[in-house]
Amino acid sequence: MQNLIFRPMVQADRDEIQKFYDDMGEQSAAFFNVNRGNERRTMEFFENGKPDHRFFVAEDGGTVAGLLFIWDIDRALPWLGIAVRDDYQGRGVGGFLLRSLFDLLKSRGYGGLILRTAKNNTGAQRLYEKMGFERVGEHPSGELLYIKRFEMGEPLA
Ligand SMILES: CC(C)(COP(=O)(O)OP(=O)(O)OC[C@H]1O[C@@H](n2cnc3c(N)ncnc32)[C@H](O)[C@@H]1OP(=O)(O)O)[C@@H](O)C(=O)NCCC(=O)NCCS
Repeated sequence: MQNLIFRPMVQADRDEIQKFYDDMGEQSAAFFNVNRGNERRTMEFFENGKPDHRFFVAEDGGTVAGLLFIWDIDRALPWLGIAVRDDYQGRGVGGFLLRSLFDLLKSRGYGGLILRTAKNNTGAQRLYEKMGFERVGEHPSGELLYIKRFEMGEPLA
C-alpha cells in the first residue's frame, strides 16, 4: 500500500464511514461490530464529536481503508479499537494504522495502549503481537487482554 494517509477522522468522512460499516462482512462484524456497537460509537462522532474518543483513518485516495479509535484518552494507557475494510485486509493497513498511532501517542507522552480481542480472533492477535502488544491474560468479559507499553527515553535514575 503506497499512498496511504493517516489522519484524524473529520465531519466530511460521514458517508464514507457509513459505507465502511455497511460493507463490512459477517466475519469482520462478528469480531468488531457486535450489535453494531462500534458503528454506533463511531457515528456518534458525527453527531456530537464524541469528545472522550479520538478517531483516525487510513485513507487510500478517498477510500477509508481502515479506522481506529481510542478512548479513556485522559489515561496514560487508553483503550484501542481497530478495523480494516475487508477488501484491504492482509495488505499492511492495520500495521500502518498502529505504527502511525504509536508515533502520535508517544509524541504526546502517552504510555501505551490496552485492548480486548475475541479468543478466536487469531488474525488480529498475530497483528497485535507483531506490533509489540503483550498478551496479559483474560478480561472479565472472557476476551483476551493485550497491552502495548511504549519505551521510555530515560529510565528513572
Ligand atoms: C485484524 C485487522 C485489523 C488486521 O488488519 P490488516 O490490515 O488485515 O493487517 P496487516 O495486513 O497490517 O497484517 C499485519 C500482520 O498481522 C497478521 N495478520 C493480520 N490479519 C491476519 C489474519 N486475518 N490472519 C492471519 N494473520 C493476520 C499478518 O501476519 C501480518 O503479518 P505479515 O505482514 O508478516 O504478513 C483486520 O484484519 C480487521 O479489521 N479484521 C476484522 C475486524 C477485527 O477483527 N478487528 C479487531 C478486533 S479486536
